[in-house]
Amino acid sequence: MRLPKERHDGGIGVKNIEVVCEMHQHLDDLRQGFAPGTNRRNARRRGGTDGASQCSEGPPMKPELPVRRAILERRTYEAPAEGRSGKMRLDFNENTAGCSPAVRHALAKLTAKQLAMYPEYQAATRRLARHFRVRPEELMLANGGDDALRVFFDTFVDADSSILISEPTFPMYRYYGEIYGAHIFALRYGPEMEFPLEGVLAALRKKPRVLFIANPNNPTGTQLRQKEVWKILQAATHTAVVLDEAYSDFSGVTVVPWIWKYPQLFVARTFSKTAGLAALRLGAVIACKESLALLRRAMPPFPVNVAALVAAQAAVDDRATMQRYVRSVKRLRAWLTVELKKLGVKAYPSTGNFLLANFGPEGPALFRTLEKQGILLRERSREIAPGFVRITIGTPTEMHRLLKIIRKEWKPPA
Ligand SMILES: Cc1ncc(COP(=O)(O)O)c(C=O)c1O
Repeated sequence: MRLPKERHDGGIGVKNIEVVCEMHQHLDDLRQGFAPGTNRRNARRRGGTDGASQCSEGPPMKPELPVRRAILERRTYEAPAEGRSGKMRLDFNENTAGCSPAVRHALAKLTAKQLAMYPEYQAATRRLARHFRVRPEELMLANGGDDALRVFFDTFVDADSSILISEPTFPMYRYYGEIYGAHIFALRYGPEMEFPLEGVLAALRKKPRVLFIANPNNPTGTQLRQKEVWKILQAATHTAVVLDEAYSDFSGVTVVPWIWKYPQLFVARTFSKTAGLAALRLGAVIACKESLALLRRAMPPFPVNVAALVAAQAAVDDRATMQRYVRSVKRLRAWLTVELKKLGVKAYPSTGNFLLANFGPEGPALFRTLEKQGILLRERSREIAPGFVRITIGTPTEMHRLLKIIRKEWKPPA
């Protein structure tokens, strides 16, 4: 099959191929004496020929699929998440302690009938809106934080329009930008991981469609001051500002109440971190009712599954478990920062459930050794500089084991 660079009018799309097959099938039905709509499965059991095999007779077609240029120009995203079970997974900022037991009980109570029906959203949205202290019409649920981010592209980004990001940051902003064929204005965090505020304010004058800021930022762990957010919002007169608060429970700072003053502000949240529901894929966008109504137009009717809804409600009902986890992360984050410093390793101050550390040029060898021993960290050598790594704050047992092995294997430069 040839993949043309651009759409050829004479080419035949996937849709058309299906239509052609359908037409063949229909003609064959008539030839064989089937009335349209006759149950062909019975005919197959009697040894009859079904429409699908009729379609597949003859040499394969050689259609030209009209693939978008932006897709041709990128590679498939290889999710680096396979083969991790049984290892110490400190690479994806998951809640390695696991979710509340109340979640599993709630999931076990799901009935066969509930699973057979399309999900209803109102009750869960009301409960989760209460958790975020907003009204239900100010909360939109999505199939994970990743999916919540995609909706901004569907809503605001035409091919050739621009988005603004500051790197290093969560790679999905760039990823979607590339898929949608957007121009990506990418500023850089400073050498001490300072947010490039002046650059962002200047770039906003060019009216990018969307500005994405992870706050706290992944992987730097840095957090914007409220004054900085305020300046950005004042400057963003023609830009949707997405503050991605995937880790805000660990910083204790949120700008959710600002949605009532700033219609251009959208706060993205996830249930993958504090609530420990990464496998169930539940994310959310919080914004003023009118702005959120625009995003809703870009959503499919059933974006979130019933298990995620049930689980999220049980998780927020058990606030104590989430609070315990957040307290543990903060304590271990401070402890690990100090212990790494004792080894001469710089760890940047973090407000997330992870630390960014710089092991220098010897770092990559250490990370390979740790990997061989089943300890997965997220190396950021390519995005930042050789030896940078992001370490998820896990359970106390995991953190002590990690440090023990680092102490044993780490050979600081002489
Ligand atoms: C900054 C940030 N935003 C969003 C997400 C997406 O989370 P999820 O798709 O699991 O909800 C992540 C995940 O690591 C993240 O780091």
